[in-house]
Amino acid sequence: MGSTKNVFASKIGAILAAAGSAVGLGNVWRFPTEVGANGGAAFILIYVLSMLILGVPIMVTEFAIGRHGGEDVTHAFQKMSGGKRGWRWMGLLPMVSGFLVLSYYAVVAGWTLYYLFEALMNGFAGKSPDEFTNDFVAFSSDTWQPIFWMGIIIAMTCAIVALGVQKGIERSAKVMMPQLFFFILVLVGCSLTLPNAGLGLSFLFSPDFSKVTGSVVLSAMGQAFFSLSVGIGCLCTYACYFRKDVDLMKDSFSVAGIDTLVALLSGLIIFPAVYSIPGLSPDAGPSLVFITLPNVFQQVFGGIPWLAYVFSLIFYLLLVLAALTSSISMLEMSVAYFHKNLHLSRPVAAVIVSLVCLALGIFCSLSFGDWSEVKMFGLNFFDFFDFLVAKFIMPVGGMVMCIFLGWVVDERVLRAELTNNGTLRSPLYSTYRFIIRYIAPLCILLIFAHELGLAWLDWL
Ligand code: ALA
Repeated sequence: MGSTKNVFASKIGAILAAAGSAVGLGNVWRFPTEVGANGGAAFILIYVLSMLILGVPIMVTEFAIGRHGGEDVTHAFQKMSGGKRGWRWMGLLPMVSGFLVLSYYAVVAGWTLYYLFEALMNGFAGKSPDEFTNDFVAFSSDTWQPIFWMGIIIAMTCAIVALGVQKGIERSAKVMMPQLFFFILVLVGCSLTLPNAGLGLSFLFSPDFSKVTGSVVLSAMGQAFFSLSVGIGCLCTYACYFRKDVDLMKDSFSVAGIDTLVALLSGLIIFPAVYSIPGLSPDAGPSLVFITLPNVFQQVFGGIPWLAYVFSLIFYLLLVLAALTSSISMLEMSVAYFHKNLHLSRPVAAVIVSLVCLALGIFCSLSFGDWSEVKMFGLNFFDFFDFLVAKFIMPVGGMVMCIFLGWVVDERVLRAELTNNGTLRSPLYSTYRFIIRYIAPLCILLIFAHELGLAWLDWL
């Protein structure tokens, strides 16, 4: 009984859980922000290419390590290496990132929950643009309110993870992912009927290659990385629960396809809405969904108050669902480790990891207000955690996994894993192996160097 519980019961459950890990604030919040800041369609084209040549191969790599090893990320590394203990410690890197990433991700997830509450209470009605800005600043810099909402998000995540792989993670993915798709389609339908929707569409789909610089290319690669959750071990952990008959390559394409589709559909919601108000610009930055959009929703649907109410409500519900499906995978990574290695029961491990994440999250949350002057390496806690995870651990983790599978692991083990012991044809195997040995490490090195702002990349 115990062992069967640690496997996703169905193939669709496995895909939806992995897609849930990938689809998150990165799609609905970060993707439109990046598209807006990097000039629209040309960025999207490079992003899609990055998904194919970088994101999917690294995802296959995580899946292969996880499913071969089972248990948790650290055991998975050790088993795939042929039992070399040193590699087990490599698995700790993504495990530690689970704490860090959830700690700051939960802060923004908490904001989305608060905005959902505001939408539910009709709190956006009648506000002026300045009020939207002032209210967001007042809320995010408050001491207790953001911590309260972050605590609720972490508690919800903890409850789902504590229920286990099948009853918690798989079941919640099967419930939340279809809802998420339904809400997205409803919102796209509404957004496309807005005045000037065509301007938003042309921003999204008419590439202007004069805007492409080295920096845009590297940002697109970085976004593909973040959006798929690769390099931090979430997908590796979920793959520990994949059945042996899952086709890892095919599932990677499915997950990347779902993730890209959600990002593009989010663009179809947001840009037509932004362009429908003359004078608003799509490059508002991270405040796009907390200041610009609630304002836009009120203005465009202002003549029909119930529509503004419903649109805002569904939009923030969508954000909460997206954030939750990703945060579940972040928590699970560390819970699996504690559960297996310290022999704690799953609920106890989930509560302990959640409390640590909450404590770290409080530091991040306060960095928008009371502790904004407390700096580490010149960054406040939130920015420091973001920097450490998105700009250091993710690229390094991805590169370590590629080098591990491409150069360290016995090739026969890798081939057997990807062909399900020779029972599947795998026409892309050689291309995949070439990418993880040469292309992916090189690209990641470039992203990494770019993120660190290394001067020698100025020629790009
Ligand atoms: N992949 C997750 C997201 O996009 C982290 O939010």
